[in-house]
Parts: sequence; C-alpha cells; structure tokens
Amino acid sequence: MTNAVTIRRADTIGDIDPQLMCALGGRSAASSTPSDLHDAAISRESTLILIADSDSKPAGILVSVQVPKLDRRRGFLFVDELQILPAFRRRGIARALVHRAQEIAKEKGLSGIRLLVRPRNGAARNLYRALGFSAAKTFLCQWLIGDENDPNYNCGS
Ligand SMILES: CC(C)(COP(=O)(O)OP(=O)(O)OC[C@H]1O[C@@H](n2cnc3c(N)ncnc32)[C@H](O)[C@@H]1OP(=O)(O)O)[C@@H](O)C(=O)NCCC(=O)NCCS
Repeated sequence: MTNAVTIRRADTIGDIDPQLMCALGGRSAASSTPSDLHDAAISRESTLILIADSDSKPAGILVSVQVPKLDRRRGFLFVDELQILPAFRRRGIARALVHRAQEIAKEKGLSGIRLLVRPRNGAARNLYRALGFSAAKTFLCQWLIGDENDPNYNCGS
C-alpha cells in the first residue's frame, strides 16, 4: 500500500504535533509549555522546520537552520534534527523530507546542506548517501554546561 506523503513548513510551535515533539526531545519536550520564545525562534526566516504527513497523519520532522555568512560565501543549511515516528519508517518519508530541504537550499541559493551523523547510525548514513550526500570525517568538539548524563540535561525549566 502506498501512502500519500505531503511536506509542509511549520511556522509556529502549534504546527508541530505533540507526538513529533516527543520524538524530538522525549518526555521533556512533550510536557514543556510552548512559549513565545519557541514561536520567535520558529518564525525566523533562517529557521526551516518541515513536517511530513502520511495520509494526513504527522509522521516525521526535519529541523534546520541557515547560518548567515557575513562575506560573499553563500553558506549552508544545517540539519539539526530528523525524526520519523517508528510506525512510519521505511516508507520514503525521510527521503521526502530531506529532498524538500535540498530543493529549498537550492531555491535559497545556498551552497548545500550539512549535518552530523553518528558512525553507528547506518540507517541515516544510507539515507544521506542515497540522496547524494558525501561524508567528511570530522571531530565533534563540544563544550558542555552541566552533566550530559543527567536525564534533564539540555532541558529548560
Ligand atoms: C534514519 C531515519 C530518519 C530514516 O527514516 P525513514 O523514513 O525510515 O527512511 P526512508 O524510508 O526515507 O529510507 C530512505 C533510504 O534510507 C536508507 N534506510 C532507511 N532506514 C534504513 C534502515 N533501517 N536500515 C538501512 N537503511 C535504511 C535506505 O537506503 C532507504 O532506501 P530504501 O528504502 O530504498 O532502501 C529514521 O530511521 C529515524 O527517524 N531514525 C531515528 C532518528 C535518526 O537517526 N535521525 C537521523 C539523525 S542524523
């Protein structure tokens, strides 16, 4: 059976189904109260959030941001999150979301898309390879405030 997949842009926090919020951030995101801060971040022209619906049911989400360049370089779209709800996987939904982001990057005149993927995430690596991404080995350097093993790490109050 083939499901009809549609891709739409989220302009406010209300456009994002709680199931998708939960997939992104776990319980903490689902139970957090949408704030003006969220809406302000989402409504920025540089923020691109795409939602995939399968037969009108929310199935997946891609969160990305365009970081401005201050010189003549065009810059990249950075994909921070890509999540497909487990019941909707292996139906081409991630492919459709990333493909739409690729189209938008072209429309914006950017240099391409960049993202991070863990070496052990074979599913995601296959997906990106199939969509024409190349892989460049790199080190992730991060400076963390707090203990990342704390279940509430990276969560607001
Ligand atoms: C990785 C993920 C986004 C793939 O989503 P999906 O909608 O199931 O992927 P698609 O159906 O569009 O698959 C497209 C291609 O990706 C590859 N792929 C997807 N899932 C795969 C899996 N479980 N194993 C191997 N290859 C896989 C295949 O090449 C597939 O093409 P094919 O179906 O013709 O073989 C999804 O499994 C997910 O949400 N995982 C948890 C979050 C995550 O890892 N996000 C990526 C962070 S970088």
